[in-house]
Amino acid sequence: MYSDKVMEHFTNPRNIGELPDANGVGEVGNSKCGDIMKVFMKIEDDVIVDIRFKTFGCGAAVATSSMATELVKGKTIEEAMKVTNKSVAEALDGLPAIKMHCSLLAEEAIKAAIQNYCERENKVL
Ligand code: FES
Repeated sequence: MYSDKVMEHFTNPRNIGELPDANGVGEVGNSKCGDIMKVFMKIEDDVIVDIRFKTFGCGAAVATSSMATELVKGKTIEEAMKVTNKSVAEALDGLPAIKMHCSLLAEEAIKAAIQNYCERENKVL
């Protein structure tokens, strides 16, 4: 059912945890299943220099969050806003259609964390 890459990110997720000095924090819930994700970002000069996540979600949510955090780390906030759940699923060699909604958690939590940073910094994206 899952690609080798999904299984690898699920069993060895990157960037799990919290960042005490985060200056962008986003928390979202999945309207389909009720699962929750929180993303912590350390942003300097509009570049995401560090990122962590915590999730109360399924294996697909863990794997897509792991990949999504890898994809946005080192990017500017403008670039990171363009990372979609589809691009994350592609980077994982695909997800079963029934699990695509799980990948939305990572995309939405990343966007919420960037929005939170912009609000703190009085920035408009
Ligand atoms: Fe809820 Fe996958 S079933 S995130």
